[in-house]
Formats: sequence, structure tokens, C-alpha cells
Amino acid sequence: MIAELVLGIVFLFLLWRTFFRKPPGLPPGRWGLPLIGYIPLTMKTVEEQLHDMHKQYGDIFLWRMGTQVMVFLNDYKLTRAAFSSTDFINRPDWTLFNFFEEKALGVAGSNDSQWKNNRRFSLRQLRDMGMGKSKLVAAVQTQATVLVKELKKQAGEAKPFPHALNVTIVNVIWQMVGGQQFDLTDPKLIEFERIMKDLFASMVPFSVPDFLPWITYILPKYFLNHVFQYGFLEDAKERILQFFFSEIEEHRATLDRDNPRDLIDGYLIEMDEKQVDPDVTCNDTDLSILILDLFLGGGESTKGILVWMSYYLATYPEVQRRMQEEVDEVLPKGTLATLEDRIRLPYTEAVLHEVLRKSSLVNLGVQHVAVRDTELGGYIIPKGLIISSAAETMHHNPHYWDRPDEFLPERWLDHEGKFTNSKKEGFLPFGVGKRSCLGESLARMELLIFSTALMQSLSFSHPPGKKIHLRPEPNNPFFRNPQMQDIVITVRH
Ligand code: HEM
Repeated sequence: MIAELVLGIVFLFLLWRTFFRKPPGLPPGRWGLPLIGYIPLTMKTVEEQLHDMHKQYGDIFLWRMGTQVMVFLNDYKLTRAAFSSTDFINRPDWTLFNFFEEKALGVAGSNDSQWKNNRRFSLRQLRDMGMGKSKLVAAVQTQATVLVKELKKQAGEAKPFPHALNVTIVNVIWQMVGGQQFDLTDPKLIEFERIMKDLFASMVPFSVPDFLPWITYILPKYFLNHVFQYGFLEDAKERILQFFFSEIEEHRATLDRDNPRDLIDGYLIEMDEKQVDPDVTCNDTDLSILILDLFLGGGESTKGILVWMSYYLATYPEVQRRMQEEVDEVLPKGTLATLEDRIRLPYTEAVLHEVLRKSSLVNLGVQHVAVRDTELGGYIIPKGLIISSAAETMHHNPHYWDRPDEFLPERWLDHEGKFTNSKKEGFLPFGVGKRSCLGESLARMELLIFSTALMQSLSFSHPPGKKIHLRPEPNNPFFRNPQMQDIVITVRH
């Protein structure tokens, strides 16, 4: 009897050690149960819970979600060290990143030579296209003018931002990718936006099996198809690929190898050279996914920052007034900014940086994965653990920021009023290291040109008797999107 009891205890202990206990050496955090991970019993948002965990565990902690062990980095130096190293350079093997092909293509979700090749190519394209008086700069200026015109139409009314904001941002990417800009009512644009919306909608539920892969073995196929809407996703995938394929075909038919017009031309010209590397897939599907990555990466993010900026300016009218004074002084009416004007617009730069800091829009960034067993912050990080940086926590850390909760553009200026430094310690709105934002230079140009064009002609204020919410949309811990809400636009005379 005693022997059986002892054996039973030993068995339970081994079971616990093997399956239930967090392996020693890993960062502290929430471990939970095998297969399902840690399910919190709380009404708090994920962001609030991550704040609590930061207080409880420190700058590096983990949370097992389903079968995925997610490690969160809350310290700037730790994040910079991790993301500058090749140990964490890859994206996880999630369906979110490779849902078109088994091997992830494009740039945002791909790895190894595929990623290196596409990243290098895209950066070169962006650099060549975005310089001086290029077509891309002209496109940003044109779209900023369109936006101002559209916003004037709702002057005096309390309304959310119009759809034109989406279109103007999307048009800048279309200029870069396909050398064209669409009118707000162009049927081709409307079709493109419809497909993108469907694709977005189908991607969210579709990520669940990445965290709970076992459900695909135990639940009947028809049930999974119904819940995760695989049919809807397949349809949206097919439609977006066909949309880009026909764009690529049109480019191929009119290609002049000596005069590339845009990124599609550039890719078609380089296609033959890249074909030589057996590790790199270089075809119309890869190009389509690369284009999609640029729309997904550069659309909602740039739009979100402009909306956040208008909310902060409506909330802090004194900041808005100072920004308008500077813009009026530097850019005569009817003149739009170029990158060369940046140096003469230090206060505008300060406001944009403070908006990037306070909003921390891409909060948990895009996930990385440990490519090999390694070590970070004194802990063991086995291959396969998912790594996220927590930008919002770093952007509010008193170690880096004096009065971090306050909106203070002045913190970016020196005593002579000159803009200090966009690469401040503790600041990483575009990520850091080898996989940092590919479109940062374009985004910075867009923010400068759009914001100055808006300030030349318009003012933002809150609806009478109402406050503007400066909290992000709830329920999306990864992106701190601004809540869509009413704002009043006034035309400046
Ligand atoms: C204000 C606007 C933007 C913000 C705040 C932003 C922020 C970010 C962040 C935080 C990342 C993740 C970095 C990481 O994985 O560690 C990222 C990646 C990326 N962004 Fe942006 N982004 C913006 C605009 C753009 C634009 C305009 C484009 C292109 C048109 C773009 C394209 C991309 C791509 C392709 C990646 C993936 C890079 C890779 O995996 O190598 N982004 N961005």
C-alpha cells in the first residue's frame, strides 16, 4: 500500500515536472496549462494585464498563450540587443505570415534569403523613388492637397475623419508600387478597398489555430470551416492575387527596361537576375505578396498617426497654435513642404515625435521568433519562443522620459528651440534592428507633408461640451489604433 502511494506521488511529481512546470531558466511569467496556456480570469484589457505583469515580473517576462510562448521585452536596451542580433531575426512560422504559400514570400513575413533579397530590393526602390523632387514626393503633396480639400467639406460639423483619409494614404503606396493614383470614386480603387477589407476581416479568426493547433485535429472540418471561414479567406486571397496579377501583366506589357516607372517595373527588371539563387522564389506571387505587405505595413499605421495627431492637437490648442505659427512662417501659403524643409520646422518635428511616442501605435510590433537556443537578459530563450517588444511601456518609462505621461513636444527641443534627435534612447516607434520598419523614411516624409498641409489650412477642435478620447481602441493589444470619434474641423483664413 505504502509502495503504491509512493509510486503514485513519484508519478504525479514526474507528470508535473514534465508537463506542467515552467522549465527552469526561462523568464518569469504566466505559464498555465499544457495546450491551452494561461487563461486570465479578469476583465482587464491585454494592455492593462501586460502593465501589471511588467510591475510584477520586470523588464522581461513570458505568457504562454495556447501552445505559443510569448516573451515580452519592456526595456529599450534589451530590445535593441535582441533585435540587432540574428538570434531573433525571423518571423514565426504562423499562418498569418505564410497563408499564401507554404514558404512565406514577400518581405514582412518571410525569412532568410527570401526576406533579405526583398528587403534590400524594397529599400533601394524607396530610396531611389523618394529623393528630391521625385514623383513620390509629388504624389504625397498631391494627396495632402486632396485631403485638405475633402476635410474642408466637413468644416464646422462634428464628424469622424472621412474615408478620403484612407484613400490618400493608399494612393501614396499605389504611386510607389504601380505609378498611379486614383480618384476617390474610381471603381478600381473601390474594388481594391473591398478586397483588402475582406482580407483583413478573414485574417483575424484565421490566426487562432496558430495558438491552438490541436483544435484542427479534434474538431470536425465542417465546423472549423464555418468558424474560421476558410472559404471566405480563400476567396479573398484569390481575389487579391488576381488583382495584383493583372496589374503586373499590364506593367509587363508596357515595360521599358531603361525607364522603370515604379516598384513593379523594378522587380520585373530584376526578376531574371534573382532567379539564379535557388533559395529565392522570384515570381508574380512573391511580387504580389511584397506589394500586399507594403499596403498592410504602410496603410493603417500612417493613417493612425495622422488621426492621433489631430486628436492631440484638438486637445492641446496651444500646441496647435504654435505649430501653425511655425508652418505659416516657414511655408508661404500655397507652398507644400519637402524633406528639405524639415530642418526649418523643429516644432512640427517635435509634435510629430511626441505623437509617435504617446500613441505608440505599433505597440507590440510585429512578432519575432528565436531562431536558435539562446540567452537574453540573463534568461534562457529556447528556439521557437515568440518575442515582442512593448513600445508603449518603453515610451512611458521615467528612466528615459521626464514626466512621461504628459504630452510635451518641448522635450524634443534644445534650449535654442532646435530639434534634438529622432534616435533618442527609449524611442522605437518604427522598431529597432534588422527588421525595423522598412517604410520609415516614407512614413516620416508623409507625416511631415500631410501635417504641415493640414496646419496651413485647418484647425482641429473637440466637439462642444465633449472631450476627445486619447485612449486607443480597446480589444487590440498589438496596435494602439485611435478610436474613431467626432472631431470639429475649422478652415483657417
Ligand atoms: C507611421 C507609420 C509607421 C509605423 C509607426 C510603422 C511601424 C512599424 C513597426 C514597429 C514595424 C515592426 C518592426 C519589427 O518587426 O521589429 C514595422 C515593420 C514594417 N513596416 Fe512599418 N510603420 C509605418 C509605416 C510604414 C510604411 C509607410 C511602410 C511601407 C509602405 C511600412 C512597411 C513596413 C514593412 C514592410 C515592415 C516589415 C519589415 C520586415 O519584416 O523586414 N511601414 N513598421
